[in-house]
Amino acid sequence: MIQLDLNNAASFLSQDWLTSRQDRLEKARVMLEEGNGPGGDFTGWVHLPRDYDKVEFARIQKAADKICTDSQALVVVGIGGSYLGARAVVELLRSPNYNLKKKDTPDIYFVGNGLSTDALIETIELVKDRDFSVNVISKSGTTTEPAVAFRIFKSLLEEKYGKEEARRRIYATTDAHKGALKGLADKEGYEEFVVPDAIGGRFSVLTAVGLLPIAVAGIDLNALMGGAAEAMEALAVPGLDNPAWQYAAARHALYESGKSTELLVGYEPSFRFFAEWWKQLYGESEGKEGKGLFPASVEFTADLHSMGQYIQQGQRIMFESVVSFQNSLGSYTIPNDPENVDGLNFLSGKPLSFVAEQAMRGTILAHMDGGVPNIIIKADRRDERTVGQLIYFFEYACGLSGYLLEVNPFDQPGVEAYKKNMYALLGKPGFEEQKAALEARLNG
Ligand code: PA5
Repeated sequence: MIQLDLNNAASFLSQDWLTSRQDRLEKARVMLEEGNGPGGDFTGWVHLPRDYDKVEFARIQKAADKICTDSQALVVVGIGGSYLGARAVVELLRSPNYNLKKKDTPDIYFVGNGLSTDALIETIELVKDRDFSVNVISKSGTTTEPAVAFRIFKSLLEEKYGKEEARRRIYATTDAHKGALKGLADKEGYEEFVVPDAIGGRFSVLTAVGLLPIAVAGIDLNALMGGAAEAMEALAVPGLDNPAWQYAAARHALYESGKSTELLVGYEPSFRFFAEWWKQLYGESEGKEGKGLFPASVEFTADLHSMGQYIQQGQRIMFESVVSFQNSLGSYTIPNDPENVDGLNFLSGKPLSFVAEQAMRGTILAHMDGGVPNIIIKADRRDERTVGQLIYFFEYACGLSGYLLEVNPFDQPGVEAYKKNMYALLGKPGFEEQKAALEARLNG
């Protein structure tokens, strides 16, 4: 199970950092448990690892098996919460080089998460002459970026296979009842998966949103959900030794002491998109009403040679939350060199993981000495069970943390502002007045 080591943050925290928040944490726990706090309609993820739809779960696995049989590539169309979770888990459990690896599962390409013409053309080039399927994911069914990308890949599939076969290669993950994508999927007869009403995008990785692409990558869904279920049971137990309580309280205490930035630190290149997922989770949940820690991330040791300078000596506004996997999956021993010209023979015969561990220990102390508190989040290894635990840990702590901050952690009203402007500037019907006003401002 996930464990927290707060030894390297303790000197920055008051003696009562945890006990003084105990009552508020208990209230937050009850609100999450009963779904009766702010945004309570969106707490369906709290019991999801136990209550998930087992029939749909089996259908997801079946669809993944079909895709593995008839496709060399899967194109996943989605943005934000309809994208980051799947990519995070595929990269963390398989590899950031997943598509380059020798494997018996399809390549996976993520599109519709931006509006880059060049990126889109590149993906079309990569898949057009191969057998491929498409999983289009959008809870609202109206988000511009994935809707545009889907239109393009749908027509590519229809040109390549004809309408009937294209229909069999498109999987739509969307709302159960409403939205343009739902209407299209019903009309065309695509296989459909549901984003449950009570689960918002950034909490949806363990629904069909994340699970279909994750299963296509050959990841064991049962083990992933099993790990999440273990975390759900463990973290539901109230108490000051609950690691989610400790994490939520420590980051809240550091925020109140003047730290404004939390850096999520990983030591595995495969962790990069997990950190992107985490940034959305915490940024969208807490960044509102002029409040919230700014969630950022770094990859060590690479970023010690770039951002390390700022972390050590720049503005003293940050703390670090280090996700540390306690066991590598493999091992590699540093070879001996009889000539020792590089002077490295003091490391001969040592595993590379030993060097990494000393780098981490040294970095934590250096940063602490530089005024950067460190919270260490200990996870076992990069396997399905542990990653399931880690996902649930961060989700649950995020719910607690949002309630400590006294915001609604489950809405994202700020995301709408750019969308409205974009719709207006694009000339979407109904936005005529805003268009004129915006054009006048932009044209000076
Ligand atoms: O967390 C969220 O709600 C957002 O990031 C959404 O997931 C994102 O905007 C995509 O929305 P949709 O799934 O409706 O296309």
